[in-house]
Amino acid sequence: MSDEVASHLSGIIHSMGGFLAAIMDPELRRHAADPAASNFIAGNPQELASPEYVRALQRLAEPKDKDWFGYKMSHRPALVAAAEGLSKELGLSFDPDDILLTRGAHGGLAAALNVVVDPGDEVIFISPPWFFYEALILGARGKPVKLRVTPRGFDLDVDAIARAITPRTRAVLINTPHNPTGRIFGEDTLRALAAVLTDASARNGRPIYLISDEAYSRILFDGNRMITPGAFYARSFLIHTYSKSTLAPGQRLGYVALPPGMPGREPLRQAFMVAGLATGNMLPDAVMQYALPEIDIMSIDLDHLQRKRDRMVRALNEMGYEVGSPQATFYLLPKSPIEDDTRFARTLAAQKVLVLPGTAVDMPGYFRISLTATDAMIDRALPVFAEVLASLAAGVAR
Ligand SMILES: Cc1ncc(COP(=O)(O)O)c(C=O)c1O
Repeated sequence: MSDEVASHLSGIIHSMGGFLAAIMDPELRRHAADPAASNFIAGNPQELASPEYVRALQRLAEPKDKDWFGYKMSHRPALVAAAEGLSKELGLSFDPDDILLTRGAHGGLAAALNVVVDPGDEVIFISPPWFFYEALILGARGKPVKLRVTPRGFDLDVDAIARAITPRTRAVLINTPHNPTGRIFGEDTLRALAAVLTDASARNGRPIYLISDEAYSRILFDGNRMITPGAFYARSFLIHTYSKSTLAPGQRLGYVALPPGMPGREPLRQAFMVAGLATGNMLPDAVMQYALPEIDIMSIDLDHLQRKRDRMVRALNEMGYEVGSPQATFYLLPKSPIEDDTRFARTLAAQKVLVLPGTAVDMPGYFRISLTATDAMIDRALPVFAEVLASLAAGVAR
């Protein structure tokens, strides 16, 4: 391996340090496989997938002709169904040819970055980030530029984004609804961001693209509406996935959508194909493509998810934790009762309650709870949350 490659790879590994430290933490790992543990670590399923989801895949795994499992370019009915579903969801009109199928949101993010980033280009991304943003930007040979959301209310800091833009800025990567804060960025904020990006693109004489990670666009509470920045800024790549709406993330299926009005759409569509071929980040498997029209209209039980949110937010606040109620996503983000969130997570883990230390997502002093945990896990965990807080208050926590 050349020195340059080694240093590139070590930069990528370093960027995932918080995540790797959390998932390799011996205390958390020891209990992760224990069926008696209450696992709130990740947005992973803790129950079997829905029978309708399983039946659709079983039926479509039965080959109907000799080409069924042959190399499969984008399956037209999948593009049509995704465009129709997204048009309904976002209130914009998407062309099926502007739906670029990917292996989940992760594949979509990689494709979008590889399409627009030249070596050394700067990509602004918001923090707290999803675990792999920085690695993906580095993987596309870009230079990550991290900006925090506002400390109060966790909103996009549009002024800070404006100040961080340089002549080398090529893309801004945001995530709405936002993991881990549960915030949906509002229309005014997104309009202000669009104005900043339009001005800066004109000033730079080179377009700045907005990459909008919308992985949780269908995990909304309280009748909230998804607002896409693509409605206000045409040079957006909208990253979608079925990992969250079906809670079956091991079955890789998602897409990048180009909004109506995206300039230069034809070369971009081709660039996506080339980026897929050049990176090996190819289309989702054939069965997932056949299943897309059915999967697009499926959803996990959002009422149930909201009941779990309400129950946990109420119970934790009553105990004395400080936690807001998310507008969307799978996550609660309470403040850690002690500064060292890793130590706090280990204290809970010793009693078989597993949470993600905030440090893993660049939110030291917080911890993240995934609402994909079962009711039984919540039943078991609530007394532990209370007990650990009381013992910390009494100064006797291990
Ligand atoms: C904000 C965010 N973006 C992207 C992803 C990746 O999604 P997928 O499983 O579809 O690749 C996740 C998954 O946890 C996520 O939380």
